[in-house]
Amino acid sequence: MEFKTHISVKNLNIWYGEQQALNNITIDIPDKKITAIIGPSGCGKTTLLKSFNRLIDLQDGVKVSGQVLVDGEDIYHPKVEVTHLRKKMGLLSQKPQVLPMSIYENVAYGLRIHGIKDKKKLDEVVQHYLKESSLWEEVKNRLHNSASKLSIGQQQRLCLSRGLAIEPEVILGDEPTSALDPISAERIEQRLLELKNQYTIVLVTHILRQARRLADYVIFLYLGNLIEHGPAQEFFNNPKYTKTQSYINGKFIEEHKIDKELNLKGTICPDNFVKAKLALEELKQGQVLKVIVDYEPAVVEVPKAMEFDGHKILEVKRLNLTDWEIIIQKQDGNYVI
Ligand SMILES: Nc1ncnc2c1ncn2[C@@H]1O[C@H](COP(=O)(O)OP(=O)(O)OP(=O)(O)O)[C@@H](O)[C@H]1O
Ligand SMILES: [Mg+2]
Repeated sequence: MEFKTHISVKNLNIWYGEQQALNNITIDIPDKKITAIIGPSGCGKTTLLKSFNRLIDLQDGVKVSGQVLVDGEDIYHPKVEVTHLRKKMGLLSQKPQVLPMSIYENVAYGLRIHGIKDKKKLDEVVQHYLKESSLWEEVKNRLHNSASKLSIGQQQRLCLSRGLAIEPEVILGDEPTSALDPISAERIEQRLLELKNQYTIVLVTHILRQARRLADYVIFLYLGNLIEHGPAQEFFNNPKYTKTQSYINGKFIEEHKIDKELNLKGTICPDNFVKAKLALEELKQGQVLKVIVDYEPAVVEVPKAMEFDGHKILEVKRLNLTDWEIIIQKQDGNYVI
């Protein structure tokens, strides 16, 4: 797919304190298309999205390295005006965040900030953008009522109107339909599909069906890494990587949290499983031990001995030509050493 790039991410790393949330991400986001960022919980979707309008560095202890270019301009350059950048980006969050004022004022808000006072102009704009989010018909007779009285689905459409009224170039959506009922969700989806002719849309979603319905381009993150990205058709019909295949086929991909690691390369049976048993003794119930072996019989014998003691084998995986990884979860049981 040939496309014009709107946002270009180059070697982006983001840390929250010591913990790295994004690991060397390089990606181009196409102009005036819908790009979906998908991946399991905690993989860094929101972090990536928030890096595009620099909402990320509002938080303490966040470190960013690498570049994000919007319209070719490095938005992390010290001279960049963050307000100017944010004006380019309309944001739709998971829960609609209406301002504590009337429906009308919610939409007019951005314009008022930019000094527009002319009532006729404001009336026009408010009506236009309420129509843009298909809310107009439902609210035209109560524009001056409080926005917080609207249903959640209506509130989200109001947020969309408010976002569009500042005339952004990009719409960033962080699971914008997840708090909505199916009908309201569909309305938002419909609007996004229609709006993509005018805006670049980046949508975080963990609903694969939604990504299939909406996305032209897909970015798949896993544990802070970019696993695969590409045109939606290719991504869904012909994924290149096993992790992507598993994820889109709805298989659970598990990466275990390891509490202790033991290198048993060069040891033979039964030395290796005695060492593994001793290591497990030091762990608490439920904790996880990873052992690496390079002795062929160990691949069968070590798991067998551990299961005999009542522990649980979570995974046995070949790492390369010689090495295997065995992941064992400690269960309190009877030990035979
Ligand atoms: N403010 C923060 N301080 C410390 N760690 C954070 C902070 N925000 C996010 N993280 C961590 O960074 C990682 C990525 O988080 P992020 O919110 O980007 O994930 P996500 O893919 O959006 O997940 P979800 O699908 O649950 O919304 C997670 O391990 C998370 O715990
Ligand atoms: Mg998130």
